Amino acid sequence: MAVAEVWEVSKRAIEAYTGLSPATFFTVLAVAVALYYTVAGFLAPPPPPPPRQVEVDPLPPPVQLGEVTEEELRAYDGSDPKKPLLMAIKGQIYDVTQSRMFYGPGGPYALFAGKDASRALAKMSFEQNDLTGDISGLGPFELEALQDWEYKFMGKYAKVGTIKKTVPETEGSNDGTSEITEKTLEATDDSDKRDRHSAETKKDGQAESSTNVEHSEEPKEDGASGHGDESEQHAELKGHGSSDHGEEVGCGAEFKEVGTGEGTKE
Ligand code: HEM
Repeated sequence: MAVAEVWEVSKRAIEAYTGLSPATFFTVLAVAVALYYTVAGFLAPPPPPPPRQVEVDPLPPPVQLGEVTEEELRAYDGSDPKKPLLMAIKGQIYDVTQSRMFYGPGGPYALFAGKDASRALAKMSFEQNDLTGDISGLGPFELEALQDWEYKFMGKYAKVGTIKKTVPETEGSNDGTSEITEKTLEATDDSDKRDRHSAETKKDGQAESSTNVEHSEEPKEDGASGHGDESEQHAELKGHGSSDHGEEVGCGAEFKEVGTGEGTKE
């Protein structure tokens, strides 16, 4: 009874306030609501995509290797994905696994992985015979560029070991142990000066930064004969921001041309 009364009152109110019959009023109301939801659906921002489950394996903490030979270091060239990616500069081995895109298989610098790439980095060269830790005969600017690379690596990567210096069979002792300590190297005669120089550098590792400057004397003489235009090279290297130890070491096309010049080859 009460419901019927309410409905009668509502009907009269609708007619009085809107001038529409109740049927027309409810039809218009339904259309308006439908229109509202349609338009609101178009204007509303799309729902956020469901959070993606990116499966990134966290890198295992760097494993300290201690002293390894260059041969042993090669095992860490990325060919075994379970092993860390290692690369050495001046006999100091760094874990570069975090930069797999650079040094991993197929990466632009994959050829450096598992090696001491000092010479290649100093000369900005990708040549096979420069993929060595032998930095003898380099010019002062090349040594400086190398130093900058070393600073970069020291700042970016964990040091995980050092390269054990080895001597060729012919120079080594006959008891089959070709690995020698730096002390032994120092004991060799002066004709082996260059080897000694690189061995010292290797031994000192991170602390040798200053000794490099002193050592640059020797290569300077050597370099002078081989480098026609070293100052020009230097200018180019500097131009790419490789001199600021705190900064990223840059590299570019010019580097390649400069570094791969025949001038420094022996
Ligand atoms: C066409 C010439 C080159 C171009 C365009 C180039 C470009 C680059 C770029 C964009 C990066 C990444 C920098 C970063 O994000 O930290 C890089 C890194 C690097 N470049 Fe080059 N590069 C060139 C030549 C060379 C050469 C000749 C060498 C040495 C022989 C070299 C050695 C490296 C190394 C070792 C890294 C990685 C440094 C790290 O581990 O952070 N590049 N290069």
